[in-house]
Amino acid sequence: MTYAESEVYDMKRIGMLTSGGDCQALNATMRGVVKGLYSCFKEVEIYGFLEGYKGLMYGNYKKLSADDFSGILTKGGTILGSSRQPFKMMGVPTEDGLDKVKAMKDTYKKLKLDCLVVLGGNGSQKTANLLSEEGLNVVGLPKTIDNDIWGTDMTFGFQSAVDIATNAIDCIHTTACSHNRVFIVEIMGHKVGWITLHAGIASGADIILIPEIPYDIKKVCQALDKRTKQGKGFSILAVAEGAISKEVAELPKKERKAAIAAAAEKYPSVAYEIADKIKDYCGMDIRVTVPGHTQRGGSPVPYDRVISSRFGAKAAELIKNEDFGKLVVMKDNDVTAIPLSESAGKLKYVSPDDSIVKNAKMLGISFGD
Ligand code: F6P
Repeated sequence: MTYAESEVYDMKRIGMLTSGGDCQALNATMRGVVKGLYSCFKEVEIYGFLEGYKGLMYGNYKKLSADDFSGILTKGGTILGSSRQPFKMMGVPTEDGLDKVKAMKDTYKKLKLDCLVVLGGNGSQKTANLLSEEGLNVVGLPKTIDNDIWGTDMTFGFQSAVDIATNAIDCIHTTACSHNRVFIVEIMGHKVGWITLHAGIASGADIILIPEIPYDIKKVCQALDKRTKQGKGFSILAVAEGAISKEVAELPKKERKAAIAAAAEKYPSVAYEIADKIKDYCGMDIRVTVPGHTQRGGSPVPYDRVISSRFGAKAAELIKNEDFGKLVVMKDNDVTAIPLSESAGKLKYVSPDDSIVKNAKMLGISFGD
């Protein structure tokens, strides 16, 4: 049954919020939800909570109409604003003594909401699951440039970030080639390396270093040396923010944390640390480029516009069917939904055994392992 053919139901009151680090296609997703809702229900009241869960805690919202979601398909950022409200702090009262979970439930009840739609990453979906377990009707939508939400093949924002990171490496490629230089481009992803892996392959990087595959600096230098011997005057390393050496990865947790903290004191970020190590080990002079938050900015690429619109429509369908406590996901090219509880608390890591890693190695890309 298409939405156009679908039955039109009565009035619904829907709360919506965007939580955590922003990304492209947040607005496109909200537009999709709202368009879907208007196909399903005769009347819809939308309550947009400002700055994520903070707005829900403090009852800080805007009442929005269909017009507010018009013309935002291509607009970056989020019209609702966002903030990070770590899940592990949900049991700790706010500075002004507010019980966070109770306050969120009170706002939901006061506004007589029929459902809360949460656009968020891992931590935000954990909170969404908590609110669902507390009895609220919740639907989650998988947002993050990192593509690390467990249970979905794709998150919205990821392809747009890959596009920007790829462009950044492409630009470095031409100048590296002109000057016969070695460059490190540091790509976002503290815990997972999906963006680095995809952007690295897409841009023809020679070495890709990601958190899931700890590197050995000797192997990195060997890969650089091999290129020099092949007569290649330049090399490109795509390095994730959370790239980690074998020695540090093998340390017990406490020592590992201390080693990472010590490096953070010494270097602006991991790319500079690796540049220094390469210089020490094989005497090469390395340039570093960090595209940083540009990777979360600007318009979503067409792929993200399509999946976010589909995700939004699916969320409306779940609400119509009163199928709550679900996270909308992409599985085997189909948009479907899984219980929030199934995904909450798990990260989707790159596995060294993933075929994409094996393919990259076949292409001659070194992971420094
Ligand atoms: O979770 C998305 C993300 O962009 C990560 O890739 C990055 O490590 C982090 O957020 C940056 O966070 P912040 O915007 O708080 O600096």
